[in-house]
Amino acid sequence: MSKADIIVGIQWGDEGKGKIVDKLAQEYDVVCRSQGGHNAGHTIWVDGVRFALHLVPSGILNPKAVNVIGNGVVLNPPSIIKELTQFSDLEGRLLISEKAQLNLPYHSLIDLAREKLKGSNAIGTTGKGIGPAYSDKINRIGHRAGELLNPAKLYESILEYFAQNKIIFDALDIVLPSNEELKGQLEEYSRELSPFIVNTTNYVWKALEENKRVLLEGAQGTMLDIDHGTYPYVTSSNTVSAGACTGLGLNPKDIGTITGITKAYCTRVGNGPFPSEDFGDDGETMARVGKEFGTTTGRKRRCGWFDAVAVKYASRLNGCDQLSLMKLDVLDGFDVLKICVAYELNGEIIDYMPSDLDNVKPVYEEIKGWDSVVGCRDFDKLPATAKQYITRIEELTKTKVGIISTSPEREDTIIR
Ligand code: GDP
Ligand code: IMO
Ligand code: MG
Repeated sequence: MSKADIIVGIQWGDEGKGKIVDKLAQEYDVVCRSQGGHNAGHTIWVDGVRFALHLVPSGILNPKAVNVIGNGVVLNPPSIIKELTQFSDLEGRLLISEKAQLNLPYHSLIDLAREKLKGSNAIGTTGKGIGPAYSDKINRIGHRAGELLNPAKLYESILEYFAQNKIIFDALDIVLPSNEELKGQLEEYSRELSPFIVNTTNYVWKALEENKRVLLEGAQGTMLDIDHGTYPYVTSSNTVSAGACTGLGLNPKDIGTITGITKAYCTRVGNGPFPSEDFGDDGETMARVGKEFGTTTGRKRRCGWFDAVAVKYASRLNGCDQLSLMKLDVLDGFDVLKICVAYELNGEIIDYMPSDLDNVKPVYEEIKGWDSVVGCRDFDKLPATAKQYITRIEELTKTKVGIISTSPEREDTIIR
């Protein structure tokens, strides 16, 4: 019986999970998504060709891997149908849980309307209907992917849902699709997606029993976790490693190695606290060199220094065996780098994550920069100051750095 390994984002998302999952997927038989939806945007570069994935697991570029969308995901049918047009050989390589919740176009309308009402307190969601789809699940009024196998029955059920929730749609000024439109949409979703809908719990259990290598790919990041992140400026799922178990039907004993993905600096897209954000030239340089624009919404990402307090917290929450330090090359050419080693809260210095990050100020340590690490594939060839930076991160986060990434390309990766 094998164990499932986990790749998990340990900052505010966009850490480079897609690149690492794609790199590692070459050695895995099964790659699974367990939470989130098409709010995720995972960019992968292979030999100069760019792939942008939202719902499809990043194992799809390994022709031998089977890709599973687990029960914990909120599945937007039009988004995945569009995404699948990038690939031609999908038979037997994509499985969708019949228990995955459907994230339907009206969820996005609710999301956008609620954000508008919040005005300056908006969360800055991706507008993809994630919160409303998960709310319907928890409210027990949602619909599941398995219902697409009988679109006529699903149609009746959604009409009933519209009638029961009319007061909400009216209050938010939401124009719902006509009955004909809805029927046509559901028939299309059913036609396109039914071939992939199965009992993925049984599939993953059998894969582990047969000693297959299974990789679980996280979406978003730990600081966006609904329970442990910077609430309410978070997403609506459990992004931590424990969420991968419920999102697939696994138990904690099924889990093997857990790798936390972190940038060598830090970014955040959307609103909410970000203690080590840099509003000056350094943040601008990181955004420009790191091409920090969102894969899903195209929004500019806020940039700042590596926050060792947040990563230490996230590493403990997720049980990280190792870190994968991404985008080290983006720090090339800085004379001096800063690391946030503690926070100041009401005049006190703390080295742990308080439940509210609103009033903390970063305490920085400075460390000498380096000329260039871009494209480096050999740890011994890294400049001495880059090695010192990595060692300091290991000390502060109490976690070893097992993987280092030095460009967007699959092969520009150091595995120690
Ligand atoms: P994800 O959501 O965690 O999968 O990350 P995204 O794909 O949204 O954002 C990470 C971005 O950084 C992508 O555009 C990647 O191509 C890019 N990237 C990943 N690793 C590296 C790296 O080591 N160096 C550079 N320069 N870019 C990288
Ligand atoms: P990947 O998988 C970065 C952010 C949004 C917003 C908050 C809530 O690419 O790392 P939501 O639409 O989920 O209700 O938005 O979460 N967010 C992400 N930020 N990377 C992501 O995914 C994100 N998915 C959601 O910007 O702040
Ligand atoms: Mg992303």
